[in-house]
Amino acid sequence: MFINKIRLYNYRNFSDKELFFKKGINVLYGNNGAGKTNILEAINYISQFSSFKSSNRKDVIKLGNKYSFIQLEIFQNKIFQNEKFINAAEISADAEIRTDGELEKTRINEKTVSKKSLKELYRTVVYQPQTANIIYNSAGNLRNFLDKELININNNLEEDFKKLKICLYQRGLILKAFDFQKNPSEEILQQFTNQLTELSAKISIGRLLFLKNLLPSINKIFCFLSGLKNKATQKEPNITNNDLEENFSNINISINYISRYMPNLKLDSSQISNEKKDLFINQAKQNLRECFMKVLLNEKKIGQNLIGAHRDKIIFTINYQPIEKILSTGQMQIFCLSLILAISDMKTNDQQNILLLDDVLAQIDERTKYRLFYFLKNKEQVFLTSTNEVSMNYDVAKKLLSGGFLKENGLNKKVFKEIMEDKIYNYEIK
Ligand SMILES: Nc1ncnc2c1ncn2[C@@H]1O[C@H](COP(=O)(O)OP(=O)(O)O)[C@@H](O)[C@H]1O
Ligand SMILES: [Mg+2]
Repeated sequence: MFINKIRLYNYRNFSDKELFFKKGINVLYGNNGAGKTNILEAINYISQFSSFKSSNRKDVIKLGNKYSFIQLEIFQNKIFQNEKFINAAEISADAEIRTDGELEKTRINEKTVSKKSLKELYRTVVYQPQTANIIYNSAGNLRNFLDKELININNNLEEDFKKLKICLYQRGLILKAFDFQKNPSEEILQQFTNQLTELSAKISIGRLLFLKNLLPSINKIFCFLSGLKNKATQKEPNITNNDLEENFSNINISINYISRYMPNLKLDSSQISNEKKDLFINQAKQNLRECFMKVLLNEKKIGQNLIGAHRDKIIFTINYQPIEKILSTGQMQIFCLSLILAISDMKTNDQQNILLLDDVLAQIDERTKYRLFYFLKNKEQVFLTSTNEVSMNYDVAKKLLSGGFLKENGLNKKVFKEIMEDKIYNYEIK
């Protein structure tokens, strides 16, 4: 599935703009403020009905206007007809965003459909340079970021996340009432505690399975993009920044999942698996019940939810150290990019991915850039923004990716040459 055409009407800085795209790598290049990120935002908007730039989705309407629309032409194997997907080739999809109180329409092939149907057309995975800050800032931000991706992949959990939010809010109110000595009902509190137990266990285990599946792919992609060898070891090397180079020939990325109701889990060595999911959920519930007994008094005293899936922490480690302590700024960008690419590689019920990579080239060196493009050539459709035109040159690629690269990737020179000279489509945005 790929996007063939986009039309933006009163969208951000565009009055009326049409662009035609191709399968494969599409580069949007141009000066700062030209509107490159706005185009990625619009492509993402159709799949989310929200903006990744602003929390108010109506911010996308061009200043001084009452409505805006995004129109897409999509080639795909599935088509939407009579509220069902059937096989076919080309469809159109559009969405209106309005501030004038009129109904906002979402359409497929000019027929009004629910926002949900529009969202089901394709899945986007977005990289933004600020994604790396999520890891620096706090474990909570990283958790929220990964939860969004998890929901994107596993729709079943979306309801549970919504319920968790409501449950925490309502349970919080009751706990506050205890704090203010208003004698709320113990019975109702118990009901919410039970609900929080059920939801937290399900969500934590859902996250663990998601991360466990993601981990081998993150390791593989990060090592590939950085040109490093991954020989996952069970040993814990004692590593400092100084001998990093040496130890990098032996790197192992893992994830620590820290929760008050589960033993500290190192995901690469944890026994969790899809088959044992129910067992793990039951164990987590059991632990949660015991934890609640211990903290309940304290929760009433301070009027806050002290345990639950909303408190879990996720920490990425490299050779058992938090990655942000070890990696350089540029390497952190490559790590986050690897995380995004690993997420996009995760298969979901045959829904296609469109990769949106914003300003991805700004921080990375030439060699990584070539490795990245080599990797992206396998993807159905990628959009990336850059301040300059992007092209690949076989001779440069050969030099930059020399060593055992061809052999490791099972390529002969001819095939490699073909891959490296494949077309990258550049579009100047102004
Ligand atoms: N609602 C809006 N109406 C009009 N212009 C907007 C709106 N939102 C953003 N812009 C303009 O869009 C431009 C930024 O576009 P952006 O896509 O971020 O640029 P870049 O090409 O650097 O990625 C800015 O010049 C900004 O003023
Ligand atoms: Mg931009």
